[in-house]
Amino acid sequence: MKTIYALLCLTLVQSISCSIFMTKQHSQDDIIQHPLDYVEQQIHQQKQKLQKQTLNKRSHQHSDSDSDSASRAAASHSASQSSSSQSSSSQEDEAKHVQDKMNVKHHSPVYSVIMKLKKEVDINHGDSVVWKNIEMASGPNSPVQTEQDIEDIFGDSLKTWDHFTDDAKKNTFHDAISETQRENNEDFHLNATELLKKHQYPVEEHTVATDDGYHLTVLRIPPTHQTRDDKKKPVALLMHGLLGSADDWLLMGPSKSLAYMLSDAGYDVWLGNVRGNKYSRSHVSKHPALNDFWKFSNDEIALHDLPAIIDHVLDISGQERLHYIGHSQGATTFFALMSEQPSYNEKIVSMHALSPIVYMNYVRSPLFRMIAPTSKFYQYIHDQVGHGAFEPGKHLIETFGGAACREKLGCRHVCNNLNYVISGINVYNQDADIVPVVMAHLPAGTSARVMKQYGQNVASHDFRKYNYGAETNMKVYGASEPPSYDLSKVSAPVNLYHSHDAWLAHPKDVEKLQENLPNVKQSFEVPEQQHFTDLDFQFSKKAPDTVYQKLMENMQNNS
Ligand SMILES: *[C@@H]1O[C@H](CO)[C@@H](O)[C@H](O)[C@H]1NC(C)=O
Repeated sequence: MKTIYALLCLTLVQSISCSIFMTKQHSQDDIIQHPLDYVEQQIHQQKQKLQKQTLNKRSHQHSDSDSDSASRAAASHSASQSSSSQSSSSQEDEAKHVQDKMNVKHHSPVYSVIMKLKKEVDINHGDSVVWKNIEMASGPNSPVQTEQDIEDIFGDSLKTWDHFTDDAKKNTFHDAISETQRENNEDFHLNATELLKKHQYPVEEHTVATDDGYHLTVLRIPPTHQTRDDKKKPVALLMHGLLGSADDWLLMGPSKSLAYMLSDAGYDVWLGNVRGNKYSRSHVSKHPALNDFWKFSNDEIALHDLPAIIDHVLDISGQERLHYIGHSQGATTFFALMSEQPSYNEKIVSMHALSPIVYMNYVRSPLFRMIAPTSKFYQYIHDQVGHGAFEPGKHLIETFGGAACREKLGCRHVCNNLNYVISGINVYNQDADIVPVVMAHLPAGTSARVMKQYGQNVASHDFRKYNYGAETNMKVYGASEPPSYDLSKVSAPVNLYHSHDAWLAHPKDVEKLQENLPNVKQSFEVPEQQHFTDLDFQFSKKAPDTVYQKLMENMQNNS
């Protein structure tokens, strides 16, 4: 009897533990996909293999497998170096030299691309290049050797500042950004929900799960005056830009920021947040403290986050189609999704792309010029940026243009802020009160891979999927080069809004985008004399009159 009882117990325990185990297994299999773990393993193996090969071949080739064009660029760069040293050193010495160089490269870069103002303390980095008062340390092994190298990176961006008067630079920001001002402004500390509540707008917080396990926070400003007989209010989904969040559509306040204006006009307004920004840092099994969480580029955002958000919004609102408004990266990912999954075009009433980053041939932003695999700065930036969250330290922000910004603009606060360093600022467009509020909410975070993918597009002159390097590309895409997104599949009606002075979405690149899209309703360029920056589409005091009114008219006309 006892034995039977014991046996029974055992079976029971086993079946329970089994079912627990199975549900766990099952739910994991259901929700999580790990396509990128495999890729990373491959990359690691490939890296080790390459390192061995490099030593065996006694060539100067860098071990870089994250992007094969990078390897090519690096290879061609080192080839030119090796030709001078080859005759004087034996093969063994050379192999040792490669090893040393690789070690050095890894732990402390051979050259340090730290720029500083001439006026400040002189740091001796060995050789340096000075361009218009901006000094860049180059060192004997640096590929950055001439003024022209620096001019190529910074020239075009800084030209857009030529029209600033000294007074404007001085007066606009310095007083506004003082510490006391910071402390007295309650908007500094309010998140999107709290901002909406403060202004007496209704707000709902939604959590949307993606099919690869990320949890995204999506905010809704439900329509207020809806009665039962009313027709359902049209839906507007707003997707933030690079290193941004839902906050960006709210920071200027009611009747100025687009989310409020759309809500006032009767729209059912939704504000998305993509994986990796401060509101969407949760995953069913990955922890944001570990690199694994950050293995995503715009491809994953486009193919997993956007469909999940769009479907959730349509489901809850009971609608079949929505208006999509995407700023910068919010437009990049839209076009990627619509090309890759054309059935989503049917869910779009109209699309409004503010400063869309797609083609980047003419990009002015120094960061993206440096992070392009064809750039002389590439290896350094690539190593510094790493493989996790994109969180450049102070020195790197200096390198990306912080130092150049201070030299030209003279405002330390603005020039320490990553978003302003990447996108520039027009001292005449943003209210002095708004600038510190913007800086308190931005940057909101993204992955290193998102940034690298933009750099790859600068080099490829194309709009393509993430480049893992030839060998891994073969396995992921079945070709050594990543495939291009096919924009001819974007059948949704598109409206483009762009600006002459933008550092990221250059008008010539937007023109190319327009040529490749089959259904563009309008391409609107902000009048040149307004000198709009990419961020001005969300934060300029002129945006409501110049852009949002037009956008809302177009939403009506496209319906
Ligand atoms: C904003 O902060 C409040 C209070 O801490 C919190 O309850 C709310 O969930 C936050 N909203 C978002 C979108 O994070």
